Amino acid sequence: MIGIIGAMREELELLLDELVGAEELRVGGYTLFRGHLAGKPVLISQCGIGKVNAAALAQIFVLEGVKQLVLTGVAGALGPGLEVGDIVVSTDAVQHDVDVRALGYALGEVPGERLSWPADAALQRLALETAGALEGVKVVSGRVLSGDQFIANRERARGLYRTFGGLCAEMEGAAVAQVCSRAGVGFVIVRSLSDSADGSAEVDFRTFTPLAARRAKAVVLGMLARL
Ligand code: ADE
Repeated sequence: MIGIIGAMREELELLLDELVGAEELRVGGYTLFRGHLAGKPVLISQCGIGKVNAAALAQIFVLEGVKQLVLTGVAGALGPGLEVGDIVVSTDAVQHDVDVRALGYALGEVPGERLSWPADAALQRLALETAGALEGVKVVSGRVLSGDQFIANRERARGLYRTFGGLCAEMEGAAVAQVCSRAGVGFVIVRSLSDSADGSAEVDFRTFTPLAARRAKAVVLGMLARL
């Protein structure tokens, strides 16, 4: 069974509209939906914003027997030349807001863990192929940065890119990545860019999230169809 997680309602409702044979279950305070998408068995749920919410739901997915997990939704652009509507497929994910440097760890490193958690190679390929087939959409492959912060400052966005080489900033991916890596569940993050993580981010995020969510949904459905 393939798990699909999104943080916001906008990110998931388009997929839920397509869910066939939907069965609703409540687990640990979350509402999960089982059913079929593009003929494949899936488990779908909205985790809410931030790393704690994402990690909690990812662990529930692991315990429910999910073998592969796709985290989808929107993100702020960090990489040069990236624009609203472009799609980022994760190579790996880092928690940019973890700071244990006082004890000798690298910025972003959770003590006892690796700095970044690599996405599943086959899911990455599938996501890149599928997104690449969308007409007129730029697709890039790279690192996703996650933290409990909405990035809305150009200098901060540039600093994150310089420090970690991340292509986009969001608030859940690396938490899901950490949980999946511990459990041996393959994951990939597919993010469509809603803003440029700068001074216009708040307005752009509100304006462009519907478009970005439509693109992210198209990739997830396409991936399932190709599986
Ligand atoms: N999700 C969408 N845009 C974002 C941003 N600028 N920072 C963090 N998460 C986001």
